[in-house]
Amino acid sequence: MKIAVVGAGYVGLVTGVCLADMGHYVTCIDINENKVERMKNGVSPIYEPGLTELLKKNLEVGRLVFTSDHRKGFKEVEVIFIAVGTPQNDDGSADISYVEDVAKTIAFCAESDTIIVTKSTVPVGTNDRLQALINLHKANDITIEIVSNPEFLREGSAVNDTFYADRIVIGSNSEKATKKMKEIYQDFNIPIYLTDIRSAEMIKYASNAFLATKISFINEIANICERVGADVEKVAVGMGLDQRIGTSFLKAGIGYGGSCFPKDTKALIQIAGNVAYDFELLKGVVNVNSKQQTILVDKLKKKFHSLHGKRLAILGLAFKPNTDDLREAASLMVIDELVKEGAEVICYDPIAMENAKQTIIHPQIRFAASVEDAVKDSEAALILTEWDEIKSIDLKVFTHMKTPFVLDGRNCYSLEQVKAAGFEYHSIGRSAVNLQSENLLI
Ligand code: UDX
Repeated sequence: MKIAVVGAGYVGLVTGVCLADMGHYVTCIDINENKVERMKNGVSPIYEPGLTELLKKNLEVGRLVFTSDHRKGFKEVEVIFIAVGTPQNDDGSADISYVEDVAKTIAFCAESDTIIVTKSTVPVGTNDRLQALINLHKANDITIEIVSNPEFLREGSAVNDTFYADRIVIGSNSEKATKKMKEIYQDFNIPIYLTDIRSAEMIKYASNAFLATKISFINEIANICERVGADVEKVAVGMGLDQRIGTSFLKAGIGYGGSCFPKDTKALIQIAGNVAYDFELLKGVVNVNSKQQTILVDKLKKKFHSLHGKRLAILGLAFKPNTDDLREAASLMVIDELVKEGAEVICYDPIAMENAKQTIIHPQIRFAASVEDAVKDSEAALILTEWDEIKSIDLKVFTHMKTPFVLDGRNCYSLEQVKAAGFEYHSIGRSAVNLQSENLLI
């Protein structure tokens, strides 16, 4: 089938490449001409395992093309996916102006019957409004129908998540459009859940909000564990053995970040507020997360009283491993706090470094070439992302610090390992190890 995808960001590019790989003819449209040129040459603008290989392969066989010209991109296509961003407004609500602009452009340009598939995460009711907008602006006497097809892929495993998703959700009010969507996904071997448009829109928000809730829940349990002498890792395993609870998203740490959870939880609070419903539970989840992101800074302050002039190493900047994405990463909040306290910060990340050098610019911040370089001469090391490189490092490296003192926000090491290595170690929801004083920092 001939398909266009508007917006070659995370969701759009991965969707376009994967649809091409399944045999469809896909045109990806993006207004950023520079980015389009790079993608035409097989260069992925994002770091995502497996994506470059599929991008090159499908360019070569001619199933994938890139353009900045919407009219050209929409030529002869039956289905157009919208995957442009829905950034956060100041009040936390989703800004859907980019989605609306694309819908209007389609209405002006489409010359034959078209199905629009909204991949972008949009507030409940948006697709109905888009349909009305399209009907108003349609330039030709054709049928344009909208389908909601929310995306559940994770950064760092986006290609795999697309091919092996747990479900494909299709929200549609039209039999014709539903049939077309089933055709698009027929070779994916993934269960399809058919529903109405508004429920599909809500499934996306509710899923992300629920996963964020699991994370904030286990993080609060972790904070209590530290105070009562329990171990959150063991608690999470014990809880997860109950299949009603499940093992996933119970990893305690310094909170969730990224392009989805922070934005979508706040947007859902707004969506509820717009219909006079106070989503108290989700507000709690968001508050717990913002406190959790700087929990290591609180511990540092308890240890040192003043951080002024202290050299502190940050290990891991990305919001999670296997991505160079820094959006809403805990590292940004932590670094901001440390800079305010007058500390000198030296950062290292295996992949997100280039991104970070452009995002985190301050005279008190420097970048190191390796974990060793970052921790050498530092008075504390803060682990913020559980990269394999950090998890598998020889722990001796920390014993050579100015003060061998490690705050691990991602529970990268077993307590036995650290006990043997001999440096002071504080993690999340577990006992502190090799304490130099009675101060538990809680
Ligand atoms: C998420 C959803 O998983 C995905 O379905 C949706 O489409 C987009 O948002 P993503 O943001 O890429 O995906 O990453 P994810 O792996 O879900 O992690 C999000 C954040 O939660 C990260 O900061 C991660 O470190 C944190 N997290 C995740 C935890 O702290 N504990 C966990 O147990 C799981």
